[in-house]
Amino acid sequence: MTHVLEVDGLSVAAGPAARRVPLVHDVSFRLRAGEALALVGESGSGKSMTALALLGLLPRGVAVTAGSVRLLEPGDRPPLDLVTAGTRTLADVRGRRVAMVFQDPMASLNPSITVGEQIAEVHRRHLGTGRAAAARQAVDLLGAVGIKEPGRRAGDYPHTFSGGMRQRAVIAMALACEPAVLIADEPTTALDVTIQAQILDLLVRMQDDLGMAMLLVTHDLGVVAGTCHRLAVMYAGRLVEEGGVGEVFDDPAHPYTAALLAAAPENAMRGHKPQAIPGTVPAPGEPPPGCAFSSRCAHTRPDPCDTAPVELVRTGARSVRCARSADLHRRGGLRRPAEATP
Ligand SMILES: Nc1ncnc2c1ncn2[C@@H]1O[C@H](COP(=O)(O)OP(=O)(O)OP(=O)(O)O)[C@@H](O)[C@H]1O
Ligand SMILES: [Mg+2]
Repeated sequence: MTHVLEVDGLSVAAGPAARRVPLVHDVSFRLRAGEALALVGESGSGKSMTALALLGLLPRGVAVTAGSVRLLEPGDRPPLDLVTAGTRTLADVRGRRVAMVFQDPMASLNPSITVGEQIAEVHRRHLGTGRAAAARQAVDLLGAVGIKEPGRRAGDYPHTFSGGMRQRAVIAMALACEPAVLIADEPTTALDVTIQAQILDLLVRMQDDLGMAMLLVTHDLGVVAGTCHRLAVMYAGRLVEEGGVGEVFDDPAHPYTAALLAAAPENAMRGHKPQAIPGTVPAPGEPPPGCAFSSRCAHTRPDPCDTAPVELVRTGARSVRCARSADLHRRGGLRRPAEATP
């Protein structure tokens, strides 16, 4: 499959150079056309900082300190590095080649402009579409994302839409230029549970229809199983495991992945009790000398886990950052961590 986005060695830190606090360290992954990659991990693991860094949208005081984000361009055009790209290039790429959907749809909508006009504006700005044609496109897009009576609703303001409809409108806006990459950061967390599944179905259908690459940030592993092809797990700002969703779910290679799976409510449906992960994510800026998960890990050993930084090791289609991974695998793997003997 064709790569559309190549992220290499991405690191993000907060604060001035002298008192820099690292938030994301050396993250690398590929997004391929038509493929959805889930980025999972507990709160504070650096998922949003990674997603925001891709499009130069980091909050004030937070910056990329190393790495590249290469957006591959169609035809013979050279790839664009979004880390070094200027503000004008980034503004052109955002919404046209790479679009983003956030948790809170109101943050992406202007309350004083009709929904139809906001979608049409994306078309006009990026593709130079005329006013009337762009307005028609906006109505078509609203229909495509499941808004009933799109012709009438296009003339309404965002506050007249329900939460689920607002997120549909934001998705319509994101898809207006048929981007190559869609980045969705917890796109359903703010919505009613009944609406969440509908919005995810919509995202997956659109991703498939348009052959887009998607990065879906979520901490809901149930969502991942139904929507994504590959899974990247973050812990304390680092990727600790990456691989195909089916393979990782069946045979997690990192104890943190296994612990996340065991903690998921879906685990209860398989007749197991969800197991909370003991302890908390270490605060940024105080990384231990060895593995950052060691203090919470059921399989840790002072040596090799606490002695030296653990590298991410790639074997075939799977990457894992665990000094004991081969050893644990020999003992039968990590599928049911509560019963495995450390
Ligand atoms: N503006 C900021 N300045 C400094 N540090 C920040 C800022 N925003 C977030 N952080 C810190 O960066 C780290 C990573 O945060 P991030 O928002 O990427 O986590 P996340 O994985 O998206 O979590 P969640 O699941 O809660 O959304 C956290 O320790 C957080 O406290
Ligand atoms: Mg987040």
